[in-house]
Amino acid sequence: MKTYTVIAFAQNEPGVLYRIANLFLRRKITIDSLTVSETETHGISRFTIVVTSDKVTIEKIVKQLYRIIEMHKVFENEDSGLIFKELAFYKVSVKSPVQREEIEKLAKTFRASISFVGADYLIVEKSGTEDDISSLFSLLRSHGIREFVRSGRIAMVKEPAGRENVHAPVLRQPSHITTQIEVSAIKRIQIISDKTPGTISLAQGKPSLPTPQHVRDTAKRAIDEGKSDAYTIGYGIPELREVIAKKVTRDNGIPSTADNVIVTHGAIEALMATFIALFDPDDEIVIITPDYASHITQFQVATNGSRPIFVPLRFDESGRAWHLDTGRLESAISPKTKAILFTNPSNPTGHVFTEKELRAIADCAKRHNLFVITDEIYEYFVYDGKKHTSIGSFEDIRDRVVSVFGVSKSYCMTGWRIGYLVAHEKLAREIFKVHDNLVTCPAAVSQYAALAAISGPKKPVEEFRREYGRLRNIVVKELSNARRIHFAFPEGAYYAFAKVDGVSDDIAYALELIRHAHVAVVPGSAFGRGGEGFFRISFCYGEKQVREGLKRFINYVENHSPKV
Ligand SMILES: Cc1ncc(COP(=O)(O)O)c(C=O)c1O
Repeated sequence: MKTYTVIAFAQNEPGVLYRIANLFLRRKITIDSLTVSETETHGISRFTIVVTSDKVTIEKIVKQLYRIIEMHKVFENEDSGLIFKELAFYKVSVKSPVQREEIEKLAKTFRASISFVGADYLIVEKSGTEDDISSLFSLLRSHGIREFVRSGRIAMVKEPAGRENVHAPVLRQPSHITTQIEVSAIKRIQIISDKTPGTISLAQGKPSLPTPQHVRDTAKRAIDEGKSDAYTIGYGIPELREVIAKKVTRDNGIPSTADNVIVTHGAIEALMATFIALFDPDDEIVIITPDYASHITQFQVATNGSRPIFVPLRFDESGRAWHLDTGRLESAISPKTKAILFTNPSNPTGHVFTEKELRAIADCAKRHNLFVITDEIYEYFVYDGKKHTSIGSFEDIRDRVVSVFGVSKSYCMTGWRIGYLVAHEKLAREIFKVHDNLVTCPAAVSQYAALAAISGPKKPVEEFRREYGRLRNIVVKELSNARRIHFAFPEGAYYAFAKVDGVSDDIAYALELIRHAHVAVVPGSAFGRGGEGFFRISFCYGEKQVREGLKRFINYVENHSPKV
């Protein structure tokens, strides 16, 4: 009798676990442990079963596993040492390059690997015995361990080559990029919120107002007239590019013709195509944070894992505002920097960049010969008489700016997926090559809808702005009464970004809010440096939802000291 570890890969459908366990129990074999974990391969789970039995019986069971249950792969292993292994992840703070080097050396000495590099932390991954894991823990502790996750007992599959008892090779892994990045915190929070009955979500920036009727009608007509049946020109239909060129010339002060415009599959695709077209793998981007989380991961995907450099805005708590620290911006530029990126008005802070701040960014870009990428998807949503200015309107840097806009927010058209970018013709041609490979062209029907939106009356946009302004005032009033919440007045967009006293782990606290207060908001650390301890509250929903969500958030925060 020996201890065996059987590792099986199968779809974790209802009943599978029971049937696997039954195969052993029917033979009166005691199962020491049976764990199920997700794999990197979509839809396939790993079942790790530790049992004490003899080889002949185990081999019979393995054959039955293949037959009875639709197994993809099964391994059995009699190396009892395997079952005492654990897998641990240490998230370690890094405050200086010297410290980074020390941690890297430590990881090497302990045969651990660095599995993720953040701006101010590293994730060290180690598999080994409990003692190995504890020793590394005590050494990393002096650097400041922010998170520590260990698996408990696991079984690892050793090199399959040459082992007669291995029935199939280990499943291949996807690229190191996809394993490094995570689905955005906004989407993760939304998924958890959807799965928690009774939760009110103020997490996503998805307006609940309808797309204007004349836009819907135009799209219906386009379908009936057969205009939406075929691919369009990749750059977008000529009449839409013309209308966009006129709009950016008039509203944004960026003199343009259709040649400067690419119509994209949402602003998100405009940004992705721009990142791929502009950056080589070793290039750096400076992102003014807190900033839309997807910019960070998009850049990593586009550059095969390059590191964005974060320049946090300064939170002026007493003045209830955010400000650009130009000194910080200047010192973040290195010879590797290729572009500065910012969102104006900002998601999540609601900051509207002043002309003075934009001038400082423009001067910095000129001085260091950098591109500037701006995401201006919330351009029309500014409050209190603030003015939104496009940096692309500055004549002296116009050739180096890629300005991204869209209809998702302005016209409540998030589902239609139309965005657009404006850039110098030469730059636009380079970005087009990527765009063509990503999407061929945006959906034809949506392009006709966007044409109706942009060329149509401005009244709907003004109505949306007024409604968000009204909701913003409600949010500001309610948050102002809370003792433990600190925030800046949202000058634009439709988010309040609120800091809660004493929260050191905003992700854990956001989960606590869903679980105990039944309200979903997005943890600030998802938005890069400067967002830690904050929570983004989206107010693009109906008043009832906004009021109830806020009430739950404030009540919980005011009455529960954070445990995290
Ligand atoms: C700053 C910012 N940029 C881009 C997007 C995505 O826009 P689109 O729907 O046009 O892809 C969002 C969506 O929330 C956003 O907040």
